[in-house]
Amino acid sequence: MRFTRRKFLGVATAATFAATHPALAAKPLTIGFSQVGAESEWRTANTTSIKDAAKKAGVIMKFADAQQRQENQVKAIRSFIAQRVDIIAFSPVVESGWDTVLREAKAAKIPVILTDRGVKVADPSLYVTLLGSDFVEEGRRAARWLVEHAKKNPGRAYNIVELQGTVGSAPAIDRKAGFAEVIKGEPRLKMLRSQTGDFTRTKGKEVMEAFLKSEGKNITVLYAHNDDMAIGAIQAIEEAGIKPGKDILVISIDGVRGAFEAMLQGKLNVTVECNPLLGPQLMQAALAVKAGKPVPKRIVVNEGVFPAEVAAKEFPNRRY
Ligand code: AHR
Repeated sequence: MRFTRRKFLGVATAATFAATHPALAAKPLTIGFSQVGAESEWRTANTTSIKDAAKKAGVIMKFADAQQRQENQVKAIRSFIAQRVDIIAFSPVVESGWDTVLREAKAAKIPVILTDRGVKVADPSLYVTLLGSDFVEEGRRAARWLVEHAKKNPGRAYNIVELQGTVGSAPAIDRKAGFAEVIKGEPRLKMLRSQTGDFTRTKGKEVMEAFLKSEGKNITVLYAHNDDMAIGAIQAIEEAGIKPGKDILVISIDGVRGAFEAMLQGKLNVTVECNPLLGPQLMQAALAVKAGKPVPKRIVVNEGVFPAEVAAKEFPNRRY
């Protein structure tokens, strides 16, 4: 290679700069991030948080939207491996089926960070850490609210329909399990029907319509695994001439602004918080991994429960 004087000066200047500013000269971290999709208000807030945090931390982010399909995530992960990114991060659409592609990442020596949702793999060393909520506890919190409601209303019937999240996803499996664990010991709380609404408003509405068709006014409680499905279902309930929040108690998970608006209108009774603002913690974990610092295998996010009575006070503080 021939060095022209101009090129040489360029190299010399860069070298001098690197010597005097070692931190600034370091190569920026590149993260390949595969997102589930854009299925809910929660997800949109999660994507914004991750992109904003990357920008703020000076991290180069290669972002891929999987449109709720595992095969798209597998393709994205393989492409991140081919591009030799420093870290792969992803929020898995479903829990199982990851062993092969994660072994490929490990063979390429690219650390993997899970955000939001977990995976079931034979070898836990295939990922460094899982950063996200405790979904089982969210399900328990939703059920505990209902148990308390039942204690205060001895004459009321509690016939529940459940809108599950995406089949095979960690939040759908865990939120169902946590809720079932608590209502098991409560003979007044009866589960009538349970079906997936895929975490979307459209499917939440569709499935609620079907529930209403088959169970009619027998339904007195709706437990939705996320706010978007609850909001879709509220529409179906109203169209059937039934009052959501009163005739049918509505319990959901996420705590997005749309849920607070529904609570302020008296149509939703409680939302259990699931915090989507994971960006800053993800960047922190990624930078630590890159620097070879130890990172805990599980990082759980702190969250609350918001019943309709506190909605007006809490609404101005909501950031998503
Ligand atoms: O994994 C988190 C869940 O995924 C959120 O509760 C839901 O809204 C989203 O789609």
